[in-house]
Amino acid sequence: MEKTFSIIKPNSVLDNNMGNIIARFEKEGLRIAAAKLTTLSKEKAEGFYIEHKERPFFGELVSFMTSAPVLLLCLEGENAVDKNREIMGATNPADAAEGTIRKLYAKSVGENSVHGSDSQAAAEREINYFFEASEVMERWN
Ligand code: CMP
Repeated sequence: MEKTFSIIKPNSVLDNNMGNIIARFEKEGLRIAAAKLTTLSKEKAEGFYIEHKERPFFGELVSFMTSAPVLLLCLEGENAVDKNREIMGATNPADAAEGTIRKLYAKSVGENSVHGSDSQAAAEREINYFFEASEVMERWN
């Protein structure tokens, strides 16, 4: 079983879409292996998005991601990384396929409802960045 990492972003939490998004993950066979509802500090958000540090939208991204609570999730399932990317849709909701989470709930490329790991290596880094090993559920079936 593969793991991936997801963030349900502030706009989804404030719009009461957290449950809809979780239901979608579970319906598509992704199990919630760990979850934390938290408001990110500036330092934690900057560290998470460090690869985007030089991008013009970095300040806006950190400011949005610290503006309200987020739900941090470790998801587990077959081909979890690719499956989650498919369910999320393109980064920019204008380009996202019909029925994807971003098409349904995102407001803009910045307020795009969810983050998801783009590779297995990224998933490992991102899960370890937010969760202790002991916080991630072990499979029992
Ligand atoms: P995410 O998957 O969280 O990874 C990096 C984020 O940067 C991305 O989703 C977008 O929300 C955000 N992003 C990318 N391009 C832009 C942009 N042009 N303006 C604002 N935010 C952006």
